[in-house]
Amino acid sequence: MTTRNFPATRLRRLRRTNAIRDIIAETNLAPTDLIWPLFVIEGKNQIQAISSMPGVNRYSIDQILVQCGLAVTLGIQMIALFPKLEADKKDAEGSDALHRDTLICRCVREVKNQFPDLIIICDVALDPYTNHGHDGIIQNDIILNDLTNERLVKQALILAEAGCDIIAPSDMMDGRIGQIRDALEENGFPDMIILSYAAKYASAFYGPFRDAVGAGNLSGSSGKSTYQMDPRNSREALSEVTLDISEGADIVMVKPAMPYLDIIKHVSDNFNVPCFAYQVSGEYSMLMAAIEKSWLSEDAAIFESILGIKRAGASAILTYFAPLIAKKLNPKQI
Ligand code: PBG
Repeated sequence: MTTRNFPATRLRRLRRTNAIRDIIAETNLAPTDLIWPLFVIEGKNQIQAISSMPGVNRYSIDQILVQCGLAVTLGIQMIALFPKLEADKKDAEGSDALHRDTLICRCVREVKNQFPDLIIICDVALDPYTNHGHDGIIQNDIILNDLTNERLVKQALILAEAGCDIIAPSDMMDGRIGQIRDALEENGFPDMIILSYAAKYASAFYGPFRDAVGAGNLSGSSGKSTYQMDPRNSREALSEVTLDISEGADIVMVKPAMPYLDIIKHVSDNFNVPCFAYQVSGEYSMLMAAIEKSWLSEDAAIFESILGIKRAGASAILTYFAPLIAKKLNPKQI
């Protein structure tokens, strides 16, 4: 026997006006959902366009401060800082990552000084610092896990000392969360938040970011596939997340976002820690390229992309669209 729901049920009743649609909406965006990734360079008064990311720039520290002022005005509460080093600062071991006065540490100190409440996330990974573009130390074409972890622990402590609020290991070495957590406890940083890039896939969508930080010429034939996850797998993401939480991660991340909405859903349904998602550079550039050609309408396409990520279960989203979205959400303030 078939049940006859129509006309008792007409789902279009609740779609009739903007106000009704707004009242019943299951997912809403706020500036506090957004985390803004920013690229830092040396110098004064420098603003460099990134050709593969239209609308995104690299800024010298004084200009980063201007962007932070904008973030605060717009209600964005979290930024993520990424350094772009001069080529001559890079070496095979990523040594510059271990200096207390490196670009990113100076930037953290200045931002914290001027905007103490703005939450700063710092990436822990060696790739902006290595001349081969990998996240770890290489020997005979192999990325050495345990030796890399020793460096990552030091890098994490240096970033903690510089004053960042959240340490975000993005390298995908095994066991690094536990080692970083132990070192933070032992060195007087018991409250440091660890945001683990737990389910980070070996993705083609990081291409423009690698241009942005000058890590484009990756050596070796397998790319980052020996440490980042295989896009064919989803159960493995649950193992990565389980391990990282057990080792001391407070927040986990899925990355990229749009091709991995199923993973965001799995992780947010199955674990009780917040799940962040990173709408990565390639997702940004793909949308911007179509918007520039007028093949997609700017606001609608961008909002829909971010809403989809939040609806899948992300509690916050790293996105290069953060200022644009926040501006639209606060039309009166700007
Ligand atoms: C570094 C890192 C990458 C991204 C964030 N941190 C690149 C990579 O793993 O190759 C990508 C971000 C983006 O594409 O926007 N480990």
